[in-house]
Amino acid sequence: MTPQELVACALDAQAHAYAPYSGFQVGAALLTRGGRVYLGCNIENKSFSPTVCAERVALFKAISEGETDFEAIAVVGRDKNGVYKHFCTPCGVCRQALSEFCAPDFRIIFGDDTGECEVHTLAELLPYSFSME
Ligand code: THU
Repeated sequence: MTPQELVACALDAQAHAYAPYSGFQVGAALLTRGGRVYLGCNIENKSFSPTVCAERVALFKAISEGETDFEAIAVVGRDKNGVYKHFCTPCGVCRQALSEFCAPDFRIIFGDDTGECEVHTLAELLPYSFSME
């Protein structure tokens, strides 16, 4: 699957974003090494702290279904006016959550609605991460 194809999946996932408080809608698509794609969107809450990011929704859906081997994740985000952020990058908590299950060469793809994207690795986005070793 190309980075652009995974971004297209993230755009599909974004359609289900529940973001009435921030108005910022995020979509994520997590690709397993077996070729399956798990979608996630951000889900906000009136009490704020239960809010979950799109990336962690996708990750936890996959983990809860027995997936443990991941290749890449694509992320897209647009503001309340429908304007895409160029680019929406995963927050620190999501980077940390991904690091529990993904190798340093796991790819993180920033996309938007233009077809342009940037590909980075988890190691680039979470350098000097805490490890038990
Ligand atoms: N958000 C994500 O879904 N992923 C990120 O990596 C950053 C932020 C969501 C959380 C909240 O619903 C909204 O974007 C604004 O912070």
